[in-house]
Amino acid sequence: MTAPTVTAPTPGVRHFLRLTDFSREELLDLLELAAALKSGRVGRDSPLARTTLALIFRKSSTRTRVSFEAGISQLGGHGIFLSDRDSQWGRGEPIPDTARVLSSYVDAIMVRTFSHTEVEEMAAHSSVPVINGLTDLFHPCQLLADLQTITESFDLATLGWAALKVAWIGDGNNMANSWLNAALLLGFELRLAVPEGFDPDPATLALAQAQARDAGERGGGRIVLTRDPAEAVEGVHVVTTDVWASMGQEEEAASRMEAFRPFQVNQALLARALPEAIFLHCLPAHRGEEVTGEVIDGPRSRVFQEAENRLHAQKALLLRLLRP
Ligand code: CP
Ligand code: NVA
Repeated sequence: MTAPTVTAPTPGVRHFLRLTDFSREELLDLLELAAALKSGRVGRDSPLARTTLALIFRKSSTRTRVSFEAGISQLGGHGIFLSDRDSQWGRGEPIPDTARVLSSYVDAIMVRTFSHTEVEEMAAHSSVPVINGLTDLFHPCQLLADLQTITESFDLATLGWAALKVAWIGDGNNMANSWLNAALLLGFELRLAVPEGFDPDPATLALAQAQARDAGERGGGRIVLTRDPAEAVEGVHVVTTDVWASMGQEEEAASRMEAFRPFQVNQALLARALPEAIFLHCLPAHRGEEVTGEVIDGPRSRVFQEAENRLHAQKALLLRLLRP
């Protein structure tokens, strides 16, 4: 008997597992498409009619699930939600089998899970695009929305991405790593204020720093890692943070609270940023922990615009992956 054939990754299939799966030009093009979709100039003619997106969630979600489901439906397609409770993946079916089977039913697969290697394994065995809807390492879909919000808040055509300054305050988590990837692609200055022991992924940091060093020689951005939130925020355009304990770290929440307390984004800290600075947070937020209510519900906050942009940015992503 001959061995069963193994599904090989189909040539030409694009996956979106990390922001750097796109080039700078592709990312900027995607942001333009997201703006066009938001304004209603494009996308009303069901460009993804009869297209099916599988949505696998091994962690909770409000924004990612609903924005993807609503987004595919607005483009004329259909989403199928699967959680661990109702899929065989949740009972231990091998990822390659799941990838191969789903690829024969649907046009794209979004996965939210713990280990980043799981989405990589999924992509390696899928003949349709795989989208990372958050892993412990990256949350690239969130960055699409965050960058869209920045383009809506600042005149980037005049300012230029290289002149933009962003401060990340708090945990060196999946969001911090994704900001590093964004800085790598767009060349803005990124200052991360992170408590000792909670640094971002070393490889992701090193890549972004290497790129920034090269760009620096041409007057480009910098990547700064500091323990001092005040230093990070001084004169920046964007201040952003995230929860102190991510999904899967619930048991560490109490011990993390101590380490992170000096890293709260409050009015005094925000006052060090530019007068026109905006505050971003991927949500869900814990008011009184990583950010005060005054800041997240205050005039500089763009968090609900940012959350809405998940919808527009992911519609653009689906179009670029499925209708290249
Ligand atoms: N920001 C974000 O991904 O939110 P959800 O966990 O609600 O999807
Ligand atoms: N860092 C957070 C982001 C939630 C959208 C987490 O992984 O739980």
